[in-house]
Formats: sequence, C-alpha cells, structure tokens
Amino acid sequence: MSYLDATVDVYKQAAETPDVGLCCTTNPVWQLPGLSIPKRMLEMNYGCGSTVNPRDLVNDPTVLYVGIGGGMELLQFAYFSRRPGAIIGVDIVDEMLAACQANLVEAEAQNDWFRREFMDIRKGSALALPVASNTVDVAAQNCLFNIFKADDLRVALEEVYRVLKPHGRLVMSDPTCEQPMSEALRNDDRLRALCLTGSLPLSEYLDVITRVGFGTVEVRAKRAYRILSPNHYATSELVYIESVEVCAIKDPMPADGPCIFTGRTAIYYGDNDHFDDHKGHVLLPNQPLAVCDKTAGALAALGRDDIFISPSTYFYDGGGCC
Ligand SMILES: C[S@@+](CC[C@H](N)C(=O)[O-])C[C@H]1O[C@@H](n2cnc3c(N)ncnc32)[C@H](O)[C@@H]1O
Repeated sequence: MSYLDATVDVYKQAAETPDVGLCCTTNPVWQLPGLSIPKRMLEMNYGCGSTVNPRDLVNDPTVLYVGIGGGMELLQFAYFSRRPGAIIGVDIVDEMLAACQANLVEAEAQNDWFRREFMDIRKGSALALPVASNTVDVAAQNCLFNIFKADDLRVALEEVYRVLKPHGRLVMSDPTCEQPMSEALRNDDRLRALCLTGSLPLSEYLDVITRVGFGTVEVRAKRAYRILSPNHYATSELVYIESVEVCAIKDPMPADGPCIFTGRTAIYYGDNDHFDDHKGHVLLPNQPLAVCDKTAGALAALGRDDIFISPSTYFYDGGGCC
C-alpha cells in the first residue's frame, strides 16, 4: 500500500469517527458575528492553524479549499463569499466528502445567512485538481501538503499555481521541523498521514513554494505544534515540530528572486529626513518599514551604521516593501 493510500485510510476513519486529538490547532478557532459552527465540525478540526484571513477575502473571491475535513474552514470562507459556487471544496476520501456534506446541512440549520449552494464540493485529488486553470482568487490547504513526499508536494503546489488567477493567493498551514528525523519516523506512513513526520525545515518548505513560481511569500505565523519523544516514537532525541501559516502569491517572479517576508523590519536612524535606496524603499527616521528578506539582506550589505534591521519574527501581517 502506498503512503497516499494509507492517508486515505486514516481520513476515512477520521471521517467516520471524529478524533479531536488528531491534529493540534494551537490558534483559537475564528468566531465571527452571526457564525455558528456545528459541534461535529469543531470536533473534525484537523488543521494545524488557520487559513482564513479577512484581509485575503475582499471583493467576494472564488475560494478553492483542498482537503476539506469536516468543512469548518469552508464555512468560515463562505462567511466572506456568500454566493452560489463561491467556495470549491476538493477531497479524495468519499467518507470525508459525506461527513462534510452532513456537517454543512447542520451549518445551514444553525446559520440563517448560509446556503449549501455557496459550496461546490468535488471529489478529486490535490495532485490532479478537478478545477479549470486561472479561475480561483484564493486557494487554501490546511495540514495536507505536509503529508506529501517531495515529488507529490511539487505537483500539489503546481496544481494550485495552475488554477489560481494571476496575483491569486495560496494560504497554507502546515507543520515544519528543523531537526532531522529518523528513517523509521520518515517512513511510517501512518504517522506521516497524521501530519507528524512529513514536515520540512521552513527554509526548504519556502524553497519548494518559490521554485513552483510564486513570486511573493508571506510567513504570517509560527507556533509550537508537537513533540515526538523517545518514550512514544522511534526517535533517540526529542523532536520539536512547529506549525506555520504561509501565504504564497502568484505574483511574477522578480528578476533577483522571490520576495519572502518573515517579519523583518528596517529602521533608519540617521540625520537626514529620509534614506532612499533607489530601489523602491524609502525609510523615514525611526519609522519601521516591513521588508522582505532579500531587501533586508541588501540593506544590511550596505554596511551603514544608521539602519537597523530586525531579525525575523515569523509574524507578518502586510504593509511590506515590495
Ligand atoms: C489533516 S486533514 C485536514 C482537514 C482540513 N483541512 C482541516 O483543517 O480540518 C487532511 C484532509 O485532506 C484530505 N486528503 C487526503 N489526501 C488527499 C489528497 N490526495 N487529495 C485531496 N484531499 C486529500 C483528507 O480526506 C482530509 O480531509
């Protein structure tokens, strides 16, 4: 059985018997005025962060959600796009599709603004999306892509890139891990399916995203996720896993490489009324400017003693330089 088949088995079971401990969200669930999330949907929250950000959802976007789980984030996205077919949900597991549909029936009963016709639920794989090219404004996946091995991860990202409109955005939440893991852990298909042993170091994760062509990437949040300890897992040392929220934007790739925002800031503290690098960045005295890592590096390389560059906070919420 391939690891992809093992993954289908895990989520068939998770659809039939909700497992609140299956994934480990450490961020609070979005509560919005007039939004009621059915109990079973909450129990089937199998993500590791949130992909729903009001800032991405202006102008009634068409949203694609890959790996639907119990449908909680589909419902949260529908809150911002209330029209027939606005939210396309794709999943490969029949039992998950059925469970999500049942949860959406309950959601319709609990929310007078919500209609199931806002949802277009399709059976299909993240590796061959049943969605036309250049038709989606916002795509999202939560805790699915980390399960994929390298070649499949590249294909899944290429698929999302294909269906996004120019400047469309892919919002993701996945575990990342900076430590090496034992081969026993890496090759355990069930643990991989449970989002525990497939994760990459953040820099590698960002690298795969930008190699597919996304010209702008934002690391919006980074949090503690899980510990794999020797008393419970096939590892000789503690393995610390984090989860990240990342937004990859289908902007053209700049000639000098992608703009990756990791929460770095430049502050000018010289004697002039501004500093201009003549590459589009104007720093005003003592006013922080969020900069991408490329710009942070270029400013640091000037070797000036009147520009401070802060380290990455891994918290970025817009307003940046490029
Ligand atoms: C970890 S769960 C996350 C569910 C949901 N995103 C959430 O945050 O609750 C992974 C989801 O991906 C689905 N899935 C697994 N393999 C898939 C594939 N190859 N293509 C599409 N969906 C898949 C599973 O059925 C499940 O719904």
